[in-house]
Amino acid sequence: MKIAITGATSGIGKEKVKALAPLCEQMFLLVRDEGKAKDLIQSLPSHQEKISVIYCDLSDLSSVANAASTLSHKTDQLDVLINNAGGIFPEKSITTDGHELTFCVNHLGHFLLTYLTLPLLISGNGAKIINVSSEAHKAANINQNDLELKNDFSSFKAYANVKLYNLLFTKSLAEKFSDKKIEAYALHPGVVNTNFGTQSKGIFKFLLFLAKPFMIGPKKGAQTGIYLASAQMHSLSNGGYYKKRKLAKAKKDASSKKLRDLLWQYSIAQIQPFLENK
Ligand SMILES: NC(=O)c1ccc[n+]([C@@H]2O[C@H](COP(=O)([O-])OP(=O)(O)OC[C@H]3O[C@@H](n4cnc5c(N)ncnc54)[C@H](OP(=O)(O)O)[C@@H]3O)[C@@H](O)[C@H]2O)c1
Repeated sequence: MKIAITGATSGIGKEKVKALAPLCEQMFLLVRDEGKAKDLIQSLPSHQEKISVIYCDLSDLSSVANAASTLSHKTDQLDVLINNAGGIFPEKSITTDGHELTFCVNHLGHFLLTYLTLPLLISGNGAKIINVSSEAHKAANINQNDLELKNDFSSFKAYANVKLYNLLFTKSLAEKFSDKKIEAYALHPGVVNTNFGTQSKGIFKFLLFLAKPFMIGPKKGAQTGIYLASAQMHSLSNGGYYKKRKLAKAKKDASSKKLRDLLWQYSIAQIQPFLENK
């Protein structure tokens, strides 16, 4: 099995790497902190040879395009892409490409990475794309004229919306690529004690502090992702949303064809400059 994963340097992603490395022939860690990734690889002495690090800052679309290009030079085929990285940010911040940071790191960067990685996924005998969403998607409130919330930013609303986008993206992938033997799944990992939200301020920071004692550990939080990556495809539901290794009910908007087409068209338009010669 050949796996590429983002957000491998912390929390849930790090635990997925540890658990999936023994099952892999090759593993690619797409990360913004190569030092952290190298430390992780050193902690896995039996698997060092098969793990490669590729620099990928999801807030910088040129970096994402370069990472996809490097990946395609390292392998001609991929079985699993895990879009795991993500975060919530306390302030509105606009990236060098002109995107709201929450939108770019949690959705658009992964959208571009996935799009550019499709040839590797298509060239195998069936491949999976796993998108790490959240139950926070249930608080989403999408403004169809301002998908990035550039005009009406709030930290939690931006996060809730992008986690709904993860579900819409998953459904779009399932719809568009099942004939290419690619399946897509989304998941909620649980409420997990990781670095998630540690930069937060105000009420969210306080709620996080209160919730800490009740959170599960990252090893447990990684379980649904590990399950989706390693299970037989025929036992999984294409386009499905999973919690605790089982299919779960998502917010009604997650099934809206109108919303998923809107998000797809908007996202394709944003990544155009990075698709030259593709
Ligand atoms: N923790 C929870 O309770 C919870 C609940 C629901 C969903 N989730 C989702 O689970 C996923 C993993 O989160 P976590 O809880 O494991 O949090 P975490 O410990 O903060 O890990 C986040 C990972 O994303 C990476 N990342 C952040 N910004 C990036 C960027 N610009 N470019 C590349 N990588 C970037 C981080 O890299 P660095 O190591 O360099 O910072 C880190 O590896 C996220 O998608 C999150 O939304 C978490």
